Order: sequence, then C-alpha cells, then structure tokens
Amino acid sequence: MANPSSMNTKETKPTDDSVTDEIMCECTGTTRGKIFDLVAQGLDFDAISSKTGVNTGCGGCEWEVESFIEALEEGKKN
Ligand code: FES
Repeated sequence: MANPSSMNTKETKPTDDSVTDEIMCECTGTTRGKIFDLVAQGLDFDAISSKTGVNTGCGGCEWEVESFIEALEEGKKN
C-alpha cells in the first residue's frame, strides 16, 4: 500500500534528475528544477513568469506552475 506522505515528495523536494529536468512550460522549456530554484530565491509566480517567460505563450502551463509554486511556498512555511 502506498504511503500517503510520500505522495507529495516530488512536489516539495524535486531532488532526482528525472523530476528536476521535467519541462513544466513547453513554450519556454522551463523545467521544474528551474522554478524550484527561483522559488528558493524568493520569487513569486509573476516574477518567475517575467524571468523565464512561463505562462507568456499558450498559457497552458499556468495551473501546473502556479500549483507547484504554491506547494513549495506552503512547504517553506512548515
Ligand atoms: S506551456 Fe507555458 S506558456 Fe505555453
């Protein structure tokens, strides 16, 4: 049986390469690891969008990127 606490680990700790290299924004090629680094530097969604171009193309990545950033920010509070 899956351990429920392990289900969020890839959202908050993208430490393995297959996760950090995952492209979250196809239009700009921005990876999960890149977004993780920028959140770690204190950037919010708008700042990350300006810096990487995320969500400035088709907009299809908005929900996923925003959710990922929120999950990281939640993690920082705990
Ligand atoms: S996939 Fe990010 S703007 Fe198109």
